[in-house]
Amino acid sequence: EDPRIHGIKTKIRVVPNFPKPGIMFQDITTLLLDPKAFKDTIDLFVERYKGKNISVVAGIEARGFIFGPPIALAIGAKFVPLRKPKKLPGDVIFEEYTLEYGRDCLEMHVGAVQLGERALVVDDLIATGGTLCAAMNLLERVGAEVVECACLIELPDLQGRERLNGKPLYVLVEYQ
Ligand code: PRP
Ligand code: MG
Repeated sequence: EDPRIHGIKTKIRVVPNFPKPGIMFQDITTLLLDPKAFKDTIDLFVERYKGKNISVVAGIEARGFIFGPPIALAIGAKFVPLRKPKKLPGDVIFEEYTLEYGRDCLEMHVGAVQLGERALVVDDLIATGGTLCAAMNLLERVGAEVVECACLIELPDLQGRERLNGKPLYVLVEYQ
């Protein structure tokens, strides 16, 4: 394991019973307060994806908007925001997905991604995998190839990886 990962782990704050009882919330805002750990995080992703011919980084609202853009800039890719409903002004395609309680939805601007583009999907965390699955569906519907999904944190107990239909997932930190 890369020696930088330990430092990153120590900067992620675990908050019990937030936002509701029984949930151990993984708070990345404490990582952002530490410029070294934040930079190490971005560098680890950039080292993995530079030179891989990725033309688009798709970041998932909201926390994928923190980590996606610096990765996109460093590897020379464009950044495409995948947003929660009714935020994008242009024509959109959308994918609904199930949450622990109820449903949510991600939207992408039509025309932002072209047929045949190589895409990286970025978010902070994978829990059940529903969010990443919806993001990949949006990209694949317009004919992009999802090269990989990248997250800081995986909650392996929730088996979100199984929902990704064999698509590779790269994470820095697992939380049991
Ligand atoms: C959290 C997290 C991931 C998603 C993972 O986002 O940031 O995006 O849940 O869950 P899943 O793997 O079970 O789909 P959330 O929807 O809470 O919103 P936020 O990023 O806007 O805070
Ligand atoms: Mg999120």
